[in-house]
Amino acid sequence: MNSLNLSNMSPLNDRSFIFGVATSSFQIEGARDSRQDTIWDTFCNVQGAIADSSNGDVACEHVKHWQQDVQLIAGLGVDAYRFSIAWGRVVNQDGSPNPEGLAFYKTLLNKLGELNIKAFVTLYHWDLPQHLEDKGGWLNRETAVAFADYVDIVSKAFADSVYSYATLNEPWCSAYLGYEVGIHAPGLQGKQRGKQAAHNLLLAHGLAMQVLRKNSPKSKNGIVLNFSPSYAASSNEKDIAAAKLADEHFNQWYLQPLMEGRYPDILQTMPQEHRPQVEAGDMSIISQPIDFLGVNYYSRAIYQHCEHDGFKVCAPHTMNLTDMGWEVYPQGLVKLLTDLNKRYTLPDIYITENGAAIDDKLVDGQVVDNARIAYFQSHLSALEQAIVKGVNIKGYFAWSLMDNFEWAEGYKKRFGIVYVDYQTQQRTLKQSALAYRDMLLSRKK
Ligand code: FCB
Repeated sequence: MNSLNLSNMSPLNDRSFIFGVATSSFQIEGARDSRQDTIWDTFCNVQGAIADSSNGDVACEHVKHWQQDVQLIAGLGVDAYRFSIAWGRVVNQDGSPNPEGLAFYKTLLNKLGELNIKAFVTLYHWDLPQHLEDKGGWLNRETAVAFADYVDIVSKAFADSVYSYATLNEPWCSAYLGYEVGIHAPGLQGKQRGKQAAHNLLLAHGLAMQVLRKNSPKSKNGIVLNFSPSYAASSNEKDIAAAKLADEHFNQWYLQPLMEGRYPDILQTMPQEHRPQVEAGDMSIISQPIDFLGVNYYSRAIYQHCEHDGFKVCAPHTMNLTDMGWEVYPQGLVKLLTDLNKRYTLPDIYITENGAAIDDKLVDGQVVDNARIAYFQSHLSALEQAIVKGVNIKGYFAWSLMDNFEWAEGYKKRFGIVYVDYQTQQRTLKQSALAYRDMLLSRKK
């Protein structure tokens, strides 16, 4: 497959539907010297933590090449660009604003405005300043307060130039991968830690929402969660219960507090020592209204019963995998969205990330990534189906604009629609970028 198509009748062909590309600060920016050290800088120094022993010191040198990158984005004809602010670039260790850091993002926002590209700003995409981790990081509820202070500085400085603010990107990854199983920064382990970090992150979200409402009432303010819809490995009752339990721990644990102001019922049956400390009033802070929910979707997860934890993840049943080993399963997106829509009264939905890692090769100036095009096409069709079934979806962002630092996988996994040669920092549009551009151009006027 080498093109992407939207039928004339497609709900995605409505010009109010927003198409964009996404990145995040630590993964692309480089320029470590002009910001605070983050938990990822520290984690990258841990032997064996990053598959290729790399780090984010240089990455895509976006701070240096941002103008070229914005031209790339504009050339794709997208409506929007989703990127994140590095907390430690805009706020100093003593909590005062860093004018140079703020100016960098302000100039970027102005340029996007000139080009008529909507800015979707994520306030936290995992790069916690290390000095806050030294005081307990997300295990310390004071970090939630520090986050709200940082959001106050940013939202005052950026005034009306931001179309949408997301408080957090994927708190499940921060909490579970970072503080429970330890394969992401800061590399800590423990069930109570995972749930406590999750709670403090959700609290940070709620406190930041209050700030955004005040400082930036016109922007669409919300949060981005990642979901892997849970499937049972067999029709055996125990496996079905295992999938349900995993869903409550990994998916609903984050959404239900936001939508209903309470954790899933499994909280009551969890051992006391695994439960998070929740203070009076926290749940109402967490559950105040949001303007949108960002959904990041890559794949599904399959579970089977296991005595120890009640569930365990199974390997995918198919060979149709991306370079991450993630199953290509677009039907999961339809099921996810329609199930959530049944269970909750959802705000506007944006698919804030979707994409595939492929072992791309640059040959004669070209990257033929037909499997990525097929991935996008099948997921866009899934999205259409979900819209037809009544889910209120307002936009879609391809992950990612360009190849970048893929966390614990380093630079070996390429998610970009633009290829990055890390030796020369040269950017090359892959076939998928050309297909995305052509699809966007072909939309109804
Ligand atoms: C998501 C992250 C994003 C990227 C993709 C592949 O979990 O939000 O930064 O790494 O996965």
